[in-house]
Parts: sequence; structure tokens; C-alpha cells
Amino acid sequence: MKSELTFSEANDWRPDSWQRKPAAQQPHYADPAALKRVLAELSRLPPLVTSWEVESLKQQMAEAAQGRRFLLQGGDCSENFIDCESGAIASKLKILLQMSLVLVQGSHKKIIRVGRFAGQYAKPRSTDTETRDGITLPSYRGDLINRPGFHSADRTPDPEFLLRGYERSALTINFIRALIDGGFADLHHPEYWELGFVHNSPLAAEYTRMVETIGESLRFMETLTGNTIAEMNRVDFFTSHEGLHLPYEQAQTRQVPRRSGWYNLCTHFPWIGNRTRQLGGAHIEYFRGIQNPIGVKIDASIRPEDLLRLCDAINPGNEPGRLTLIHRFGIHRVEKAFPPLISAVQQQGKNVLWCCDPMHGNSETTSTGIKTRRFEKILGELEHCFHLLKIQGAHLGGVHFELTGDNVTECLGGASGVTEADLGRAYHTAVDPRLNYEQSLEMALLLARLMAQEHSSK
Ligand code: PEP
Ligand code: CO
Repeated sequence: MKSELTFSEANDWRPDSWQRKPAAQQPHYADPAALKRVLAELSRLPPLVTSWEVESLKQQMAEAAQGRRFLLQGGDCSENFIDCESGAIASKLKILLQMSLVLVQGSHKKIIRVGRFAGQYAKPRSTDTETRDGITLPSYRGDLINRPGFHSADRTPDPEFLLRGYERSALTINFIRALIDGGFADLHHPEYWELGFVHNSPLAAEYTRMVETIGESLRFMETLTGNTIAEMNRVDFFTSHEGLHLPYEQAQTRQVPRRSGWYNLCTHFPWIGNRTRQLGGAHIEYFRGIQNPIGVKIDASIRPEDLLRLCDAINPGNEPGRLTLIHRFGIHRVEKAFPPLISAVQQQGKNVLWCCDPMHGNSETTSTGIKTRRFEKILGELEHCFHLLKIQGAHLGGVHFELTGDNVTECLGGASGVTEADLGRAYHTAVDPRLNYEQSLEMALLLARLMAQEHSSK
């Protein structure tokens, strides 16, 4: 497979130029005319985000890459259409707001909040098909494509789901914007974000202390200046999803008045998954041409020279804030795999934001066949990344978690001690196991401590 772009190819980008390249992880639609009709409809619908927001996020990401902000990205592995309802959306927003408040305290930096939501509906799979009791059907690829049930009708990709996914993304983002604009994210009122069971949590006291300290600081500043601190009345929130289904992403790729270039306007921050980041592949081709800030997932198999090629392909101008490397090595591989990649990027002066995803390299299956992740391994990878970057004079610019504001039992461990026996009780994810509310808050508290040590040792 070719990895370098020729001059004419580099200048020859179009929203559909990815179609000339091999595209991994794409569904097969039996009726191409139906797909075409849906895509035409999608490309006429109004966008979900604006180029101003996208550019503002890119600017903030550039500051995070320089160590002046910190990125918190989190949400479900895969959103489901059925969970597009107010309670589930509000509780995801609440936990991300709570975590960001804790991180502000620890890091003394502004936090960039990015949800894995309002479009996280397409999933890469390790095999195209699944066989049960001698019956083979296409794999479930997320609600944007097909259904998880094991009947032929469930698993047949239906192009209409692209429209349903787009509409639910719009409903989700509309509700989030309304909550935020209505004052839900006001730092003067963190009590709005309390989840029902917070008071039962062993972490409640530490969190409440932090909230009180922030409240006191706000009131102190406001007394001093005689004004309310307007910026504290609301916080920004951005959306992200894996840009996996290329026809869907293409349909929302637009030019806007008074700006050059093309924007993907169905999300602020699309990322390329670890399974679709091949140099010379269709995903890199599509992503290199859009103006959004871009994430790329990387694991221990990437060689330093290929990582540099990837940086050149996605970010030939070395624009700060453009490229976030979301690394997911796994606790057993991180110490060996990460340092050579950091060195290569440092030596070549590439502008990247290092964002640790401590979830995807740490999945395991229990003896009873349940997919899970252990809190201590997730935390361990995060700590390693933090220190490995620091040793080399770089720094961790963000974190990426699979989490939910609900009281699920999908990951093991944490202060509340989820055991293997608990996994059956509230295991709801359709794909990967998520940190529950308490585990997420605890993770944020521990990360904040790590960052506070860093801050006080300066
Ligand atoms: C994911 O983020 O859900 C995912 C599939 O991750 P990765 O591409 O890193 O495997
Ligand atoms: Co996942």
C-alpha cells in the first residue's frame, strides 16, 4: 500500500477523494440507490455545529498542546438510539462537568470538555461477520448501521439509520446546548449536576469540599471586583465521535462563507480509530482535507517512522491544535511502546496534543466470558503516561475515557469495589465496558492529585 502522497494527489483533495482509496470497516448496503438517496438528503440538512465553534476548539486544543489547557474527552463507547432521552444525556453532562471541576482544581488549567456523544453511533469490529450456532450474519456495527439482535433483519445495514442517527445527534446536541445556555453549567451552581446517588458515595466528601472551595473563590473574586464573573456562568462543551462511516461524514462536509477549506459540521472533533488509521487508506485521505481538529488513535503496534508519516499526512503545515494523538497502549505495553514515539515527535518538532485513552488497551474477558476493564490498570496506564511524557520534557495534554453518569457495573474495582460477581447486576453497554459514575469521579480525583503535585513542584 502506498504511504506517501504525490504532489498532484496532495492538491487533489475533495470530500469524496477518499473513495479512490481502500476503506476499512465500511458496511455493505444491498441497495446502493437507497443509500444515495439518503446521502443526498443528509447533505441538504443543516449542520449540527458551526465553523466558529470548530475553530474555537482548535485554538483551545493548541493551548492544551502547549500545556495551558487540559482536554477531558469522555462518553459511551457507543451511543444507542434508545438512550437518546433526557435523563441519560443530562447524567453524562453532569459527570463530565463534575470531573472537569475536579480537574480545574488539581491542574489550575482551563479544561476543554469534549463529549463522546451526539453522533458516536458507528463501531469498528474485529470481524465482518458473527457466527452463532452455525448461522453467520454481518457483525453489529453500531446503531447508525444495523441492530444488535441476531436475526438477518437486525443485521442488514439500513441506510435510513443514517438519517435516524443524524436526527438523534441533533436532538442530543440541542438538549445539551439548551441545558448549558439555560445555566445548567453555571459554576455558581454545581449542585445542579449532582447525581442522585452522589451522597452515598465514599468520594462525596472530597468532591463536596472541592465544590465549596470553588464557590468560595468565586464569591471572593466577585466581592473584590464587584462583578459577577461572567465567564463562569457558562462553560463550553464540544462533541466528538469516531469518523468511521465515510459516506456519512462526507455528506456533512461543507464549505462556509468567508472561510477557506472544508469543515466536517456533524461534530467538532472527529477522530480516526485505531483500526482505520492506515497510511494510504481512505480515512486518512478524508481527514487530511477537513479543517477540524482531528484525533488519531494509536496503539503499541505503530512504528515511530509511521507515526511521523501520519503527522505529515494529517498535518502537513504542523498547525498547533490540529492533531491529537489518542494513545491506548495498555498497562503492559505502555512503558516500552511510548518513549520512542515521544522521542520521534519531539525530535521532529511535530505539534501534537498527547491524550491518554487508558481504556482500550486494558480490556479483558472474565472466566465467565464478560468483557471488562480493571480500575487499577486504567489508572496505572494514566500514571505511566503522565510520567513518561514528563521525563522526556513533554506533557500529557488530555484524557479520553469511556464512561457514563449511570450506576452501571461494567468495570472492576475502584473505591466502591465492583467485583466480578457484580458485573451481572447492571451491565448495559452494547460494546465496551465503561467507568460508572463513582469510578469516573474517583479517576478524576486521582488524576487531579497527580496534576496538583506537578503544579506544586514547579
Ligand atoms: C473506541 O474508542 O471505542 C475504539 C473502538 O477505540 P480504538 O479505535 O482505539 O480501538
Ligand atoms: Co470503545
